[in-house]
Amino acid sequence: MDEMTALEQDLVHLARMALAGRGQDVQTLLQRLARRYSRTNEATSKALQALLREAPSTDAPLRGLGNAAPVPLDVDSRVPLIRPDHLAPAVTPVLSTSVRSAVDQICEERLRSDRLLQAGLTPSSSALFVGPPGVGKTLAARWIASRLNLPLLVLDLSSVMSSYLGRTGGNIRKVLDYAKASPSILLLDELDTVAKRRDDGAEVGELKRLVTVLLQEIDDWPSSSLLLAATNHGALLDPAVWRRFEVVVDFPLPEAVQLRKALDQYCEGQAPDDVLTAIARALSVQGSSFSDAHRLVTAARRRAALAEQPLGETLLSMCGEQVKQLPFAERVRLALDLVQSDHMSQRRVHELSGVSRDTIRSRMRREESQG
Ligand SMILES: Nc1ncnc2c1ncn2[C@@H]1O[C@H](COP(=O)(O)OP(=O)(O)OP(=O)(O)O)[C@@H](O)[C@H]1O
Ligand SMILES: [Mg+2]
Repeated sequence: MDEMTALEQDLVHLARMALAGRGQDVQTLLQRLARRYSRTNEATSKALQALLREAPSTDAPLRGLGNAAPVPLDVDSRVPLIRPDHLAPAVTPVLSTSVRSAVDQICEERLRSDRLLQAGLTPSSSALFVGPPGVGKTLAARWIASRLNLPLLVLDLSSVMSSYLGRTGGNIRKVLDYAKASPSILLLDELDTVAKRRDDGAEVGELKRLVTVLLQEIDDWPSSSLLLAATNHGALLDPAVWRRFEVVVDFPLPEAVQLRKALDQYCEGQAPDDVLTAIARALSVQGSSFSDAHRLVTAARRRAALAEQPLGETLLSMCGEQVKQLPFAERVRLALDLVQSDHMSQRRVHELSGVSRDTIRSRMRREESQG
């Protein structure tokens, strides 16, 4: 009966990791289970070992972190607590002027730290990225890491909190120590997870400890490493956490001109300029993020490839499907904007906005007569 309970617990633990998409952790846990079952359930142990032999190596992603210390593990499960991220960003982030200048400043301070040292200063060691989903907070962290040629270590607080509740404080401290041990960038992703769960009575003690750990760490983070944190809900953060960060960068939703630049990258020259300009405006009217734009282009590329259609036409029709959900008044405004500023044909504007050519013409006449 006891054995059954342990098995059930292992199953739940495994399911949690698998559903969170943590393939690496799943493998580590399976290795541990294979060892444990070798005494009690030999057939299962052998079957697991056979599967593991076929799976890709588990240690590869943890190599080359530029840190001699072993990667921190959860005490009980032995799964790694940190996700090293070696990917150079696939796209160059398109940043608003204020975000670009903040990001450049972070990089410059490190690339030319000798100047700062001469003046008795050190580079900023912590920054908080605040903004809605899909506007480039994680992308900017990756980009900074690749510009500074430092390993990026990602600690996803939402998964750490859910998997290891009760031991979160200790686990986080281990990760922070690891990141401090050699030059690196640690990204605390989804920092608001800590704040969001505050109302949950049972977890208050644990959260208080966690916030204390974080506050201490932000305060004495070494300037050899950079601590970045990202959150969607700046307002939910404890003001004490917020205040500690040396730099706070607000990532706004993109404007049409920025969406246009991003679309250029996503489409890789496969769609005409006037179509991309129109799509960028249409997305901006809908309050879309960069990742919304990226999702649209990826879906359109697939559809265009299957239908053997030009990407531009497919994009227009798919974006049109979204635009038609907007209120009529907004669609008319978008239609007039496109006809007037981009010399896009009224037929195309009609296809994208669903506003009839008669309506477009009469509104234009009305605007002209009003001067
Ligand atoms: N500034 C940007 N320039 C170009 N593409 C971007 C930008 N921001 C986001 N994207 C696209 O959207 C995808 C998701 O972006 P990212 O993961 O950086 O968003 P995020 O702000 O971290 O969102 P979340 O709050 O959901 O974590 C990127 O992989 C990229 O394709
Ligand atoms: Mg992110």
